[in-house]
Amino acid sequence: MTVLITGASTGIGRELTKIFAKNGYDVVITARSKKKLDELSKDIEKFSSSKVTVIEKDLSCINSGKELFCKIKEKGIVVDILINNAGVGDTGFFFESNIDKIINMLELNIKNLTILTRLFSSEMAHRKNGRILNVASTGSYMPGPFIAVYYATKAYVLSFSEAIREELRDFNVKVSVLCPGATITEFSKGAHKLDLKGAMTAEKVAYIAYNKFMKGKAVIVPGYFNRVGIFFSKIMPRKLVGSIIGKSQKKLHEGFMTKNSHIG
Ligand SMILES: NC(=O)c1ccc[n+]([C@@H]2O[C@H](COP(=O)([O-])OP(=O)(O)OC[C@H]3O[C@@H](n4cnc5c(N)ncnc54)[C@H](OP(=O)(O)O)[C@@H]3O)[C@@H](O)[C@H]2O)c1
Repeated sequence: MTVLITGASTGIGRELTKIFAKNGYDVVITARSKKKLDELSKDIEKFSSSKVTVIEKDLSCINSGKELFCKIKEKGIVVDILINNAGVGDTGFFFESNIDKIINMLELNIKNLTILTRLFSSEMAHRKNGRILNVASTGSYMPGPFIAVYYATKAYVLSFSEAIREELRDFNVKVSVLCPGATITEFSKGAHKLDLKGAMTAEKVAYIAYNKFMKGKAVIVPGYFNRVGIFFSKIMPRKLVGSIIGKSQKKLHEGFMTKNSHIG
């Protein structure tokens, strides 16, 4: 059985890769950083006899999802499990945000995730066997002032995944969506700049994700407080949720958000 994991070079994707390899799955790992993927491949050799295939790919480029699919076909690999984990975020005033960053985020978080799901789910449906895990966020449930595009992309991932789960049910293709809250990774340390107090480790998130995903759970939210947060976001007026998120994001990003920063 082979698992394709996007964004496998660091964070949650790296931890998921290790768990799948430990459990005897062959893995196809992809990201931009070939060096980190090669290092991960060497690490895996130490504890598993799983076959590791490394494919360097920037999934923020137009058509890169299709290209990745073709490369995997060329290698004669059949993907039994697809994990769309790669994702990026950006924070600050939307009206000041860098347009190229927005385009890349939409390509990676939405477009290529959708294309990879389309291409691999079709093969899985014909074989009447497969699993897909798309990585969204607790932010999928809320409007995110000062992190607006990122939360909106993750709302798409949640809605899309829940919808195709229903469509693919009769074809024995199980679709799950992972909604982590703050997790200590490159992502949270860098682009997202989250307050890491109370954040979960990537190892813990991946461990919970693996177990629930393999049990076929539709929506996986690791961590009690993340589940409570989502519960309240569902029962509170959306305007109020937006205002609370806006205040907390603004506070988190005070210091680097200036009205005179780059307008791209
Ligand atoms: N950390 C959090 O607080 C948090 C919370 C909720 C949801 N999430 C979601 O969890 C997923 C994994 O993130 P993480 O927290 O584990 O962050 P991470 O450590 O930064 O990992 C992101 C992965 O995506 C890859 N990636 C980034 N840009 C890419 C591109 N253009 N093309 C191909 N691969 C690319 C990165 O590899 P390269 O840089 O080598 O390309 C890396 O392997 C993301 O979808 C993120 O939105 C994270």
